[in-house]
Amino acid sequence: MALLPHPARSFLKHLLQAGSRHAVHSPFVYSLVDNALRTTTPPKETADIEHLRNALLANMDLVSVTDLGAGSRTASSTQRRIRDIARTALKPRRQAEQLARIARYFRPRTMLELGTSLGITALHLSRAVPEARLHTVEGCPQIGAVAQGNFRKLGAGNISLHIGAFKDQLPRVLSGLSQLDFAYIDGHHAKEPTLAYFEQCLAKAHNDTVFIFDDIHWSEGMEEAWALIKDHSRVTVTIDLFHFGLVFLRREQQKEHFRLRY
Ligand SMILES: C[S@@+](CC[C@H](N)C(=O)[O-])C[C@H]1O[C@@H](n2cnc3c(N)ncnc32)[C@H](O)[C@@H]1O
Repeated sequence: MALLPHPARSFLKHLLQAGSRHAVHSPFVYSLVDNALRTTTPPKETADIEHLRNALLANMDLVSVTDLGAGSRTASSTQRRIRDIARTALKPRRQAEQLARIARYFRPRTMLELGTSLGITALHLSRAVPEARLHTVEGCPQIGAVAQGNFRKLGAGNISLHIGAFKDQLPRVLSGLSQLDFAYIDGHHAKEPTLAYFEQCLAKAHNDTVFIFDDIHWSEGMEEAWALIKDHSRVTVTIDLFHFGLVFLRREQQKEHFRLRY
């Protein structure tokens, strides 16, 4: 196992250690698994978003990439084709739809995404909870411009895009919110920044805030960040789905960490 690259080793470990929903005794977690995680029915109304993804996957245009994070193992030059960004950076449809179902299940009013890229997952989230406002932050101006065009194309009026480094934009976005209900962290996959963004978001979090961290097993640093988040004094329940780590602060729950394949 030591010869495998880090993510493959972690995935193998996940398969060996994860339980099914039948091992879950918490009614809160059981209901979430049953109603939001296990459902595979694609929401019909997202066909236009996936059509847009396919157009991006065929788009040969070049953009200048400003890389502010540890987000891409494959980016070698600062000029990249949109189709390559669409292929490597975006959450695949199945995971984007799962995120959207989780968001719909909890009905947040205020959502945050760190890491917009071309905006496909943001569009899924915005469509899932049209009554919510989604603040999404992207550090690369040219990629952000493509995302903004995509939001306009699909008439997603509930998305506010903020261009700039997370370290500058996050405090600004948070200062404009009375509370944060749902946060999806999908960029700058490194230990210290991930922990810093979590702490900043906690200042606006409440008992029912949902945090979702992407790529918690991407590197040893991200594994360490995930372990510290689980141990955090405000965190009660976590659910490790391998590709996502879900974090809850609900004081009525006992501290409990789940690893699930559902
Ligand atoms: C994995 S992609 C996001 C994908 C998007 N959530 C989706 O699934 O459609 C991560 C994005 O975060 C941006 N990013 C990474 N680190 C950043 C930082 N420190 N500040 C601002 N943006 C950053 C990158 O430019 C990249 O576009």
